Amino acid sequence: MNRTSAPRLAATLFGQLFSTRPVVVASAPGRVNLIGEHTDYNGGPVLPVALERRTAVAASHGEDWMVASAIDGKIQALDVDGPLRKAWTDYIVGVVRELRPLRAAPAGAHLTVATTLPIGAGLSSSAALTVAAAKALSLLAGRRLTPAQLADVAYRAEHDQVGVLCGRMDQTVAAHGQRGTALLFETATGSIRPVPFGSRLWVVETGISHKLTGGALNDRRRECEEALAQCRTWYPGLTHLAQLTPGDLPDLERRLPPGLFARSRHVITETARTRAAAAALASGDLATLGRLLVEGHESLRVDYGSTIPEADFIVESAVARGAYGARLTGAGWGGAVVVLAPTDREARVVAEIGNDFRERFGRAPEIWGSRAASGARREAVPG
Ligand code: GLA
Repeated sequence: MNRTSAPRLAATLFGQLFSTRPVVVASAPGRVNLIGEHTDYNGGPVLPVALERRTAVAASHGEDWMVASAIDGKIQALDVDGPLRKAWTDYIVGVVRELRPLRAAPAGAHLTVATTLPIGAGLSSSAALTVAAAKALSLLAGRRLTPAQLADVAYRAEHDQVGVLCGRMDQTVAAHGQRGTALLFETATGSIRPVPFGSRLWVVETGISHKLTGGALNDRRRECEEALAQCRTWYPGLTHLAQLTPGDLPDLERRLPPGLFARSRHVITETARTRAAAAALASGDLATLGRLLVEGHESLRVDYGSTIPEADFIVESAVARGAYGARLTGAGWGGAVVVLAPTDREARVVAEIGNDFRERFGRAPEIWGSRAASGARREAVPG
């Protein structure tokens, strides 16, 4: 992983490819979701944290649209009006299309993109890209969009344009993140409450990459919609699965097919866990928070079917080695595990997890720490 900052990498590449300095550089963070998985498209709460690792977009006006990423350094022409290409550049095209109705898109632009986030590791590299692009392009067009507008543009770019049936968590935290806080985002009401989060969290990458477009996330979302549709025949007026409570579970178990019941049970119990986790974090009770993380992972494994053996192993190892807790973060089917460990032992705990993993799977996992960082921002153009 390159240790240079993403804004510096994007600006340097811009200079190399376009022989001038960019006019605007903006960046947005990746995220770890502490808890509240697969609740955001079911009207429930989420508790994400913006990471120190970021994606940066450097931009200048152009008569046409050109983009390059630091991954391969190749300039590509963007057709912002034509069909999507099933490539990462679709996310930029989606952003341009969603900025236009707000009159916040330039007529053309030259762009470079660089990131310090691993791609496909469940840390929301796509929302970091769309939010950073929305920020850079709108600034280039002379507009200062609010964090809510940036999140909305980025969400529509991914959901409506690219066609990933995601919820709004990732774009929201990438736009609204604040240093030293987790965000309790209630997706049904849109309320966002910062919860102080001063400790360092640890990311243990499984090394198994997930691909969301058209994949398992879309299948799960459809299952949840089917469960909601069936529940509505008995609970008229129900708008989200997350409105149901653990007290409703015996009734649901009798009425729903077993598969849909399991998905619903995850959403309902995860909603309760997430609110309890926010309360535990607010009162500094990291032991309770950690226990809820482990319960959340178990629910993903048993009821949601979104974990993988590598992640299950990391969670078990983390608990055995003395972490407060750990769980697979993000959509799943690959990705990374978030680990919370007591400050005085964290270095030892994560080293032991790494050793356990290497013994079991024959390779060392990427492990790194981060504190809660800020959301999208304009960066000084590096000189
Ligand atoms: C992906 C989606 C989010 C959310 C998570 C699961 O990251 O983009 O909206 O649904 O999966 O919690």
